[in-house]
Amino acid sequence: MKAVIFDLDGVITDTAEYHFLAWKRIAEQLHIPFDRSFNESLKGIGRQQSLDNILTRGGAASTFTTAEKQALMRQKNQYYQKLIENLAPGDLLPGIGKLLSELKDEHIQIALASSSRNAPAILKRLGISGDFQAVVDPETIEKGKPAPDIFLTAAALLGVSPAECAAIEDAEAGISAIKSAGMFAVGVGDERSMHAADLIVSRTSQLSFHLLYSGWKRCRERQQTERS
Ligand code: BG6
Ligand code: MG
Repeated sequence: MKAVIFDLDGVITDTAEYHFLAWKRIAEQLHIPFDRSFNESLKGIGRQQSLDNILTRGGAASTFTTAEKQALMRQKNQYYQKLIENLAPGDLLPGIGKLLSELKDEHIQIALASSSRNAPAILKRLGISGDFQAVVDPETIEKGKPAPDIFLTAAALLGVSPAECAAIEDAEAGISAIKSAGMFAVGVGDERSMHAADLIVSRTSQLSFHLLYSGWKRCRERQQTERS
């Protein structure tokens, strides 16, 4: 294992909750039903696609002009930015700071593969920008999660092969993206939504270099046995 690629929202910090709250507010304004179970399907999905999915759910996919949709996305981002205004180093999810320093000690490269355009600002507020050797700009990625592109780009930026990477996600779309990229997939969340992951933890405090490395190694050995 040469690199670990992180998702941001819901893995490094609890901003997944703020995306939920901001989209809920937009959906309520539009009188479209919005709950946590529907929100699961939006996790990891980019801003534009998320709005399209919400409008489709409300039977309003063709009701809005491009300019109106842009205004709704701007408003959602304003609600979101208000919620993350006071984000600080203390808002790292439990165990993430320790994991980053273990990876550094083990000379494992670290990258970010987040669909969020707010990601660089959030890393800065959390005080961890310097820990990442690569941060993928989601605007340069044509196909978002569940397509593998963002994870493959992260590996390419680090100069490592996908098979040498483990990647951590809390979204079903993210786990699909990691698996399609041919990487070892670590899911943070419940067994049901993370069932496609190679390794599942219910909380970030359970993550460690040793857990990732031993899981990645076991998976590689199994793949090699299957091939021979
Ligand atoms: C992902 C989140 O990381 O980023 C999604 O899981 C969010 O919920 C997406 O919609 C886009 O984020 P942003 O900050 O660019 O609107
Ligand atoms: Mg996430």
